[in-house]
Amino acid sequence: MRRRSGIALTLILFFLLSLLSASQLSYLDPSLPVAERVEDLMLRMTLEEKIGQMNQYLGLSFLEREDQKSADQMLSQLRQGLIGSFLMVADLREANRLQEIAKQSRLKIPPLNAIDAIHGHCLYYGATVYPTCIGMASSFNTDLVEKIHAATARELRATGYHWAFFPYLSVSRDPRWGRVGENFGEDPLLVSEMAAACVRGLQGDDYASPGRVLACAKVLLGDGQSINGLNLAPMDVSERTLYEIFLPPAKACVDAGARTFMVAHNEINGIPCHSNAWLLTGLLREQWGFAGYTISDWGDIERLVDGHKVAVDQKAAVRMAVSAGVDVHMHGSDFVEPLAELVREGAISEGRIDRTVRAVLGDKFKLGLFEDPYVDERKGGEILGCEDHIEMALEMGRQSIVLLKNDGPVLPLSRNLKSLLVTGPLADSNALVGDWVHAQPDKNIVTVLEGIEALVSNQMKVEYFNCGNLLEITDQSIDTAAAKARLVDAVVLVVGGNDNRSDESWELRFDRPNRSGGENVARSSLGLVGRQLDLVRAVQATGTPLVVVLVNGRPLAIEWIAENVAAIVEAWQPGMQGGKAVAEVLFGEYSPSGRLPITIPRGVGHLLSFYNYRPTTYLRKYKYGKTGPLFEFGHGLSYTTFEYRELQVSRELSGGGPVNVSVEVRNTGDVASDEIVLLFVNDVVSSVTTPVRKLKSFKRIHLEPGEQKRVHFRLSTDQLALYDVNMRRVVEPGVFEVMVGDLRGEFELESPPLR
Ligand code: BGC
Repeated sequence: MRRRSGIALTLILFFLLSLLSASQLSYLDPSLPVAERVEDLMLRMTLEEKIGQMNQYLGLSFLEREDQKSADQMLSQLRQGLIGSFLMVADLREANRLQEIAKQSRLKIPPLNAIDAIHGHCLYYGATVYPTCIGMASSFNTDLVEKIHAATARELRATGYHWAFFPYLSVSRDPRWGRVGENFGEDPLLVSEMAAACVRGLQGDDYASPGRVLACAKVLLGDGQSINGLNLAPMDVSERTLYEIFLPPAKACVDAGARTFMVAHNEINGIPCHSNAWLLTGLLREQWGFAGYTISDWGDIERLVDGHKVAVDQKAAVRMAVSAGVDVHMHGSDFVEPLAELVREGAISEGRIDRTVRAVLGDKFKLGLFEDPYVDERKGGEILGCEDHIEMALEMGRQSIVLLKNDGPVLPLSRNLKSLLVTGPLADSNALVGDWVHAQPDKNIVTVLEGIEALVSNQMKVEYFNCGNLLEITDQSIDTAAAKARLVDAVVLVVGGNDNRSDESWELRFDRPNRSGGENVARSSLGLVGRQLDLVRAVQATGTPLVVVLVNGRPLAIEWIAENVAAIVEAWQPGMQGGKAVAEVLFGEYSPSGRLPITIPRGVGHLLSFYNYRPTTYLRKYKYGKTGPLFEFGHGLSYTTFEYRELQVSRELSGGGPVNVSVEVRNTGDVASDEIVLLFVNDVVSSVTTPVRKLKSFKRIHLEPGEQKRVHFRLSTDQLALYDVNMRRVVEPGVFEVMVGDLRGEFELESPPLR
């Protein structure tokens, strides 16, 4: 009897002690340093709970839409502390709800919420939708890109997200690929600078400060030059191309402090990225010093089994991926268990797991989620789509537009026109918001027609003719458009493509009818889809002044249009304010200033077609038709003229000898305009072949009529390096040619080679 009461006393004592210690759990004490809190928490975690931090799941509503059983399973895992993060949480209410449920778990570890925020927080209802990345790249305005991403981070945080699956850092070398619009073009320097600006904007100096989020640079490494233009298809590129073209943007994101990286769907030269230890560990961590964590892309650990066929089953795939350096598994139930088994069997060390868990938990502490994981519903409403952000969307819309051709000049259109016909399948369409956008309130999106009407309909008669969707243009609608064109002073014809994956029902669907681009929509031809070209031909044949406006996410092979239509405006996907921006350009309220960040080829037979080609690329010509691109990288017209003068190139002999290049740029027309000054360099004779020109720097300036500015560039010798025959990065002596505008200069690096 005495013994029993002794046991009871011990139990009561133990219970009281554990209550006391629960209220004193060090990891819940915000006054302690993060590292200490992390270690304290990790000591309390089971292996499964640790692996739970590497386990990401799709948000509740998306799962429920798929099936209730998986949604219930997910909730049960969350209550057991086996889920570390979510992707695609539907909204802030769901974000709060998931945080509440996580609090029911033993250790109450808050989840991180991630979402694709490709050109704004666009998968969220009411958010600001900026132009897509190919348009942002056309602005060459990294400052504005950084500001836009700081604004996006504010919208994300206000709605319960902590992690943006962005920036995309692929170099788009094949326009058949549907994701060109999500990327910053074909030049490694431009992509690097844009992607780094996004990282700075999203994360700020410290991603833990208010209104900032973790950036997830993606993807490592691909996928802009697959063997057939299809998404996920193998990349088969030389080591030289990897180092010269595809790796620099990833390195730039590491240098900009990107906290996380997403691994690419594709294989490179026979090795799936998800099992590529050289890439994810050797290069990323050991050589480049990356200290954050990586996440697999959708279905990609599983794809090691059923796609790439390098693993016999999921357990083998998990082993390969985690050993190679994949830290977090994006969505799916088959991860925690196999990984726990692998650790118990000694195939993967617990230390390997701890490395990731330390980093993930550290972020949750830094972001303050243990103290307050919830968001205030009112705050979200105030920040989403607020005036400042919409103004930035409009400004980027303007700067992203590229004037491809303007013979006559047809543009800008006069405000004294009596009548204007606006037609084409994309004239009054939301396609101008691009891919990765959920259905948005109609009132938030200004179509081209709406932009034109708002600007000039009180001055002229603006007639709209709906000629049917992309694939619905008929003989009859073509005839009617042409008949109407004969009766007006000018026609604005909006054609192109539609990458938008959402419709009014809020379903996100890759296979949405009329979707001609975007993720998973590659093309084997690059002309206008459907009967759009017939429509253009018919309207052009009327002789009425015609402006073709292109709304599209990838270069379109528009050879006939380029040869026959006097005025062509490449609007890309100019975002929610895009219609207003296009209208301002058409009527001269804004002088176009964008430059192509990607070459527009004549057709699929001309691929690959990029500006930084090697010297023998075009020594021979195609037998039939023209050789060379339709519009090359860097092309873009304005309503004014700029004169480039007095190019000065000089070596600084002190301090390693950087090269100073400067040029006088003068606005010789009578319209104020921005000008993008591009500096290209050609290593004239080198031990290995080098491109005929490579972009080395760029600056965007504004010039009033008659104004001139001297633009200065400073090139370090390192920027002149090449990979030699042994793939060593060296700077070789000799003559380098410098190209700015229509001017050329040169300088010489003396022997012996400088490092
Ligand atoms: C895409 C990624 C994206 C992920 C999550 C994948 O299909 O390739 O870019 O981040 O889905 O939405």
